[in-house]
Formats: sequence, C-alpha cells, structure tokens
Amino acid sequence: MSVAPHLAGYWHPVGWAAAVGDRPVPVLLLGERLVVWRDVNGGVVAAVDRCPHRGTALSLGRVDERGCLVCPYHGWGFDAAGSCVAVPQLAAGTPVPSRARLTMVGCEERWGLVWVCLADPVAEIPSFPEFTDSRYRHVRCEPYRWSTSAERMVENFTDFGHLGYLHDGLLGTRDDLVVPVHRVEQVGGELHYVLSMQVPNTNERFAVTDVQGRRGLQTNRYVLTLPYTIHLQCTYEDTGAHRTLFFVAQPHGDGTCTGFCYQSRDFDLDGDDEPYARFQDLLAEQDRVVVESQRPADVPPEPVDELHLPFDRVAVAYRRAMGGLDGRTPTAPPVGGRTRP
Ligand code: FES
Ligand SMILES: [Fe+2]
Repeated sequence: MSVAPHLAGYWHPVGWAAAVGDRPVPVLLLGERLVVWRDVNGGVVAAVDRCPHRGTALSLGRVDERGCLVCPYHGWGFDAAGSCVAVPQLAAGTPVPSRARLTMVGCEERWGLVWVCLADPVAEIPSFPEFTDSRYRHVRCEPYRWSTSAERMVENFTDFGHLGYLHDGLLGTRDDLVVPVHRVEQVGGELHYVLSMQVPNTNERFAVTDVQGRRGLQTNRYVLTLPYTIHLQCTYEDTGAHRTLFFVAQPHGDGTCTGFCYQSRDFDLDGDDEPYARFQDLLAEQDRVVVESQRPADVPPEPVDELHLPFDRVAVAYRRAMGGLDGRTPTAPPVGGRTRP
C-alpha cells in the first residue's frame, strides 16, 4: 500500500483530533490518500480515500446520523468497519455485494492527535507522560508544514551544533558554541541522549524560561522514538522546574511533512500561554529556512555523503537507526571527516 513499507507499521500523526468533527477529513500519509471520520460513538476511523464503486474521494462526502461515511457520487454508505451498508440504487431487500468494502487502516486518538498505522503495528504510539500529569500546563503550537522530509525535520532535534548559532540569544549564544560532551544510547526503538548546557534568560523578550540569572544551566533529556517523535524534557537547574516539548512529524510522502508540537511546563501555571507558542514558532521558522534548503531533501543513506564531527553523533545514530528500519546495512559512521570511497 505504502510508498515506504518499512514505515507503514508505525503510528503516524495525521492531524489534531479536535479538527475531526462531523465531516470527513482528507489526509495524506506516506503517499496514501486517506479519509478520517468519527463513527457513531465518536471514535476516529480511517480508510483509503477511494470509493470501491468508481474511485471517488470519499472525503468529499458526508457522515450521516449513523456515523456512516456517504460517498458524494452515488450515495453509498459505509460503516466504521468499512462495510457498505447502503446502495440507494438497489431495490429494497437486494443484498449489497460483499466486495463493496473500504480498505480500512488503523486509527487511534491519543494525546489530542489522530494517529494512523497503515499496516500491522510494529510499535506503540510514542508515550507523552506529561499529557495526563495534572502538574503540567500544555500549549499546542500551530502545525509546522515544511517542504522537506520528516527525517530532515526530526534530525534537526538531534543537532546541538546549531542551537547557539542559528538560535543565537534564544537557545544558546554565539560566544559559547562548543558542544558539551554527551552520549547517545539506543534502547529498542528509541534513542536516548542527554545534554547539559548554559542557556540565556530570554524572559524580557519571551517569558518562557525558569532561568533566574542572565544565563542558567539547563539539562535536556531527549527520547527520540523512531521514526519521527521527539520527547524533550528540559530541567532548569536553578529551580528544578521543567519544560517539555513533544514533537512528532507526519511524513506526507509528497516531499513535505508536518510537525505537531506541544510545549508543556510545570511552572508559570497561571501565566500567559502565548509567549510559549510564539517562542516555538520563531525557533521553528529559523529552522525551517535552513532545513528546507538542505540537499538532498531526504537524509543521504550513506554516512560518507556528508561530513560528521563528534558533536554530530546523535544525528549519526539517528541515521543508523533509520537505516536499520528499512533494511539498509549501515556502515561505520565516519566521525571526524569524510572517509575515502
Ligand atoms: S463512486 Fe462512490 S458510490 Fe459511486
Ligand atoms: Fe533548531
């Protein structure tokens, strides 16, 4: 079914759950056009967006009072299991052919997102423990649609070298670019990595940190769940407060991807949410311009195709792990320079 069969068994986000109301919603995932709607119980369901009768896009239709998806062309109705339950052109009592079925795909609502899996699942939906933790307040950012691959978008979260340079004054400063020593460890389908760094106090411009002085030590604990989810917990060492970022990319399969992001915090609980969203939007826009410029848009499969230095080790680990998913045999990462062919 999918253009990327090695990714079909993973759960991918296709939109905010709140955006799926009483109308069918078209989505694009890994090159597959899908339709998402709510059944009679309010649960989300998804199918290939193609009517078995004449190939019409079912997302142009409607959802009836029984929670059936009704095709816009001839009005056939399909229930949440994908069975055709109404063919208005047939006389009453005439059986509906059993081949009149939709191709259903896995669909779940979790963390305020709709997730789809195009094949038998090989992994769980990534965890987001803060979502149900009453000590946290959450800010949902606008989705980030970028003209690049989901790999490039997510790899940007493994890249420490750019924090103080591209995000000068926000996530670091240009007078302090040496990347602290860090390690990365693969645990099943996850990469774990931790980095402690000095961050500037941005509160005059964006009141989003719990840094007390001009700069503060922040420890970032990352869990990258393959293929495209980042959970980042930042601890402000001045106060012990936390800010977390949950970010997951939807690979459309058409050269674009969409990032869905929550900013969560266990401090400033009565504060204004707007600076948190604006802060993330500014960072994302700085990233978008450079990440969309990267060529090739897909991360190169061979480590020798780009130049890796020791502070790129998490990106190298991510490339190796992604290579493992699609059966590529990763070669040893050349750290420190380009290897000869
Ligand atoms: S094309 Fe869908 S009912 Fe005919
Ligand atoms: Fe960035």
